[in-house]
Amino acid sequence: MRTLDSLGPLGSKTVIVRCDLNVPLATDANGVKTITDDGRIRASLTTIRELREAGARIVLISHLGRPKGEPDEQYSLRPVAARMADLLGTAVGFVDETVGEAASAAVAELADGDVVLLENLRFNPGETSKDEAERQAFAAQLAAFGDAFVSDGFGVVHRKQASVYDLAKLLPSAAGRLVTAELEVLERLTEKAERPYSVVLGGSKVSDKLGVIAHLIERVDTLLIGGGMVFTFLAAQGHAVGASLLEEDQLDTVRGYLKTATERGVRIVLPTDIVVAEAFAADAAHEIVRADAIEASTFGAAGLGLDIGPESAAAFAEVIGSSATVFWNGPMGVFEMAAFADGTRTVARALTETAGFTVVGGGDSAAAVRALGFADEDFGHISTGGGASLEFLEGKSLPGLEVLV
Ligand code: 3PG
Repeated sequence: MRTLDSLGPLGSKTVIVRCDLNVPLATDANGVKTITDDGRIRASLTTIRELREAGARIVLISHLGRPKGEPDEQYSLRPVAARMADLLGTAVGFVDETVGEAASAAVAELADGDVVLLENLRFNPGETSKDEAERQAFAAQLAAFGDAFVSDGFGVVHRKQASVYDLAKLLPSAAGRLVTAELEVLERLTEKAERPYSVVLGGSKVSDKLGVIAHLIERVDTLLIGGGMVFTFLAAQGHAVGASLLEEDQLDTVRGYLKTATERGVRIVLPTDIVVAEAFAADAAHEIVRADAIEASTFGAAGLGLDIGPESAAAFAEVIGSSATVFWNGPMGVFEMAAFADGTRTVARALTETAGFTVVGGGDSAAAVRALGFADEDFGHISTGGGASLEFLEGKSLPGLEVLV
């Protein structure tokens, strides 16, 4: 993989840096936006600082959210430019378009060490287009701004998109420091994970995690399953799950996983108790019931599971505590609601307390641990990439990395 060093001296060169500045935003009653987790902005600083010190003129590009190929104010990167300026301790210009006259003028005005952030790449249909020619045309417009390209948006390297893949082919290009650092950690998990190796998977959809579960069953000692996915596993074992999230079309696949795991001697640990609520609401009445008797709660078949129970969380914590390597992706419950955050909190705490090497994979899980008050330093590594880290663990080839080889 080509690293930043391969680009040679960058003084007075205009360098386009693809970051993943896709941060969660909250909007108050007056329409004022706040960044609720700036982890991805912080993670981008190493490369930007290094480029500034080298005297480069820096053009930052990123997406935010999933706008539909046209400008949509709720997905503007403007608040990110302000936060980036605070963190860098220097002015960061912002242009409210990605390509066009204003963007060209802003880039042309850059002096050595200056930084400008262009508006959300996904306001342009070419960024995510499935039509290669359309993507390449957009990439060529971006390439016209710079002398070199640095790919540092680890969270997006699994996407074959104009600013991730096509642009890298048009300019001298290399991986930035964040991408290199993330890869070093993830390679440690795929190539030389110390045993016992446990993976904790949560989040709502089994279908999102199919590939990674299939791959991990062949490689880990223990797979701990939490989050909304649990109910498809419980249903696959023949238990009624009330109104909990259930992917009926995945039941056979999940039964297959359970069978393979038994054959291979891999432990799949499912929760033994569940926090069942009357409704999907922060103030909903709730009870703890056995995982195999969800409909035995006061809410009957209308009850829905929103977190793993305390017995399960303690059992997960014990496995984590005795593991030499732990990878965690996806919350255990609806952690955004205080009543259903305990499972996620207990798992996060166990990760901070174990002597093993711990990796938190992804946007949601990273936001969850910070929202629950844990510090980044308490973990071995917090990855900025959710989908990207899972696909990497799955052993898939990632277009944004392939193109830098
Ligand atoms: C992420 O949040 O995982 C990355 O920013 C990629 O975003 P995407 O899933 O919308 O491509």
